Amino acid sequence: MRYVYFATFFIAILTVSVLGFRGTLSTKPPLELIPDMDHQAKYKPQAESPFFADGRADRPLPAGVVAYGRSSTAADGVFLAADDALYQGKNASGEWLHGFPPAVKVDARFMARGQDRYTIYCAPCHGALGDGNGITKQYGMGATPSYHDVRLRQMAEGEIYNTITNGKGNMLSYADKITPEDRWAVIAYVRALQRAQNGTAADVPPSHQSELGLK
Ligand code: HEC
Repeated sequence: MRYVYFATFFIAILTVSVLGFRGTLSTKPPLELIPDMDHQAKYKPQAESPFFADGRADRPLPAGVVAYGRSSTAADGVFLAADDALYQGKNASGEWLHGFPPAVKVDARFMARGQDRYTIYCAPCHGALGDGNGITKQYGMGATPSYHDVRLRQMAEGEIYNTITNGKGNMLSYADKITPEDRWAVIAYVRALQRAQNGTAADVPPSHQSELGLK
């Protein structure tokens, strides 16, 4: 008797595996025992509606509304993000912005914020000095450039903004971690690092030049 059960079971498996589940598509709606709230009355975009006098289901925007949401580069929840300098790093003619957007004020507090964010998010690869010798180098990530190369010293602030926002090569985007304002603060700090590594005797205050044997 056991063998009969066994054989039936085996034949059932065999039948299903040969004939069943062969990837055929069905256009019939699936059997929904519990439809929950899957099917509800709704309008699809740009559909007609007899309910409104103009026959459109899409309603025109009330006067004075402001778009809210995500721009392509800005963090979540910023109004419109229409300031291209601040949110894209671009000037009015669409080129990379040189200098800082008018919306940010570069002062000591801003720099301190930049140092703070830089130390968290950039120093692991770019190093505390910006020379590309961060901790990741010891673990085999060798291609991190130094900020002190002429090319990166001359790079427009807006292009650095773009690198932080969208990433480059092995460097991922930091758009979800660093707000647009903080990205500019980081750039201010990167500029400070570059300045610090390329000082000349003329940068030493005259009162201290004698200590270096310059005078
Ligand atoms: C995970 C390691 C890593 C981190 C963290 C990192 N970078 Fe990078 N970064 C790289 C690498 C690798 C490159 C080279 C990318 C390439 O050219 O392919 C690079 C390139 C750059 C460049 C040069 C881009 C160019 O056009 O040549 C800048 C500027 C830069 N990073 C700034 C930053 C800043 C600012 C931060 C912090 C917000 C940061 N990076 C965080 C790895 C990192």
